[in-house]
Amino acid sequence: MHAIPGPARPSKLSVIGAGGVGVAIAYAALIRGSADVVALHDLNAAKVEAEVLDLAHGTQFLASKHVEGGADPRVMEGSDVVVITAGAKQQPGEPRLALAARNADILKSVLPGIREHAPDAIVVLVTNPCDVLTVVAQREGGLDPARVLSSGTVLDSSRLRWRLSELVQVDPRSVHALMIGEHGDSEFPLWSRAKIGPMLVREWMEDDRVRFTGADLDRIADEVVHAAYRIIEGKGATSSAIGVSSARIVEAILRDERAVLPVSSILAGQHGLSGLALSLPTIVGRGGIERVLEVPMEEHELARLHASAETIAASVRSVMG
Ligand code: LAC
Repeated sequence: MHAIPGPARPSKLSVIGAGGVGVAIAYAALIRGSADVVALHDLNAAKVEAEVLDLAHGTQFLASKHVEGGADPRVMEGSDVVVITAGAKQQPGEPRLALAARNADILKSVLPGIREHAPDAIVVLVTNPCDVLTVVAQREGGLDPARVLSSGTVLDSSRLRWRLSELVQVDPRSVHALMIGEHGDSEFPLWSRAKIGPMLVREWMEDDRVRFTGADLDRIADEVVHAAYRIIEGKGATSSAIGVSSARIVEAILRDERAVLPVSSILAGQHGLSGLALSLPTIVGRGGIERVLEVPMEEHELARLHASAETIAASVRSVMG
C-alpha cells in the first residue's frame, strides 16, 4: 500500500528588488504559476507596497494565487528560492562589468537578510554582472556552491533561438542552440552543437533549400551579444524577457525538473576552469545545480570560453581582491 500523500507545502519564491526587472520576474512567475506564493522585497516601502498591490489586483487572472511583500526582509521567510535583482542598472552604452563594484556592495547588504530569513533557499542572481556576483554571493554568504546560480545566458540563448527560428521558420522550442560563457560582451554561440530538431545547423546549411549562410549566423550572434544595449537605448532597461527567463529557471528548481538550462554557476574544474561562474548547459533541479555538462566543443570555442572566463575572473579579483 502506498501512503496517500498529504497536501504539499506551498512553494515560495521571493524576489529582492522592486525595480523593472524584479517586478517583471514576479509578474511572469505569477502568470506562469512558477511558485504558489510570490513575495517581493525592496527597501523602498512605498514602491514595493504599490507593486504588490498592482500585482495582487490581477489575482483572479493569475495562475499563482498569492502575492505579498514589503520593506521588511521577514517577507522572505519560508522561501524555497530567492531571486536577487537589486542593484544599479546599465546606462546606455555601459557594459555590464562596469557595474561590478557598485552592485557587489549592494549584494553584500542583502545577503544577511537572506541568511537570517531564508537560509534554506536556493539563491538566483539576476543583478549584473551576474556571473561575478554569483561568486561574490557564494563567498561572502558562505553558500553551498550548488545552491547559488545565476540566470546567466538563459535569456541570451532564448534570443539566439528566437532569431534562428525566424531564419529557418521552425518553432524556437525545436531550435537547440546555446550562448555560453559570460552573460555579457564575451559570450558566444556554441555553433558546433547547435541543432534544428535533430539536424546540426551545419547540416541544415548544406541542404539545397538552405536560406542562410555563415555570414547570417555571425550577424545573429552579434545581434544577440548587443541585444540588451539596443533595448537600453530605446527604453532604458530590459525587463520582459529577463522576467520570463528567470521564472523558467525558478520552475526548473521548484518542480525538480532536472531541465538542461544555460544558467551560470561556480565551476569546479569543468573545461579546466574553477573558482569563477559562467554559463554552460547545466542540469537544474530541486538541489539547484545538479550537474554542469562538459559538452565537447571545438578548439576555437574552448579558447573563447577560456577568454570569457578570464574576463569574469579579472572582474571577481577587482571586487574581492
Ligand atoms: C539583459 C540583461 C538582463 O541581457 O542583462 O537583458
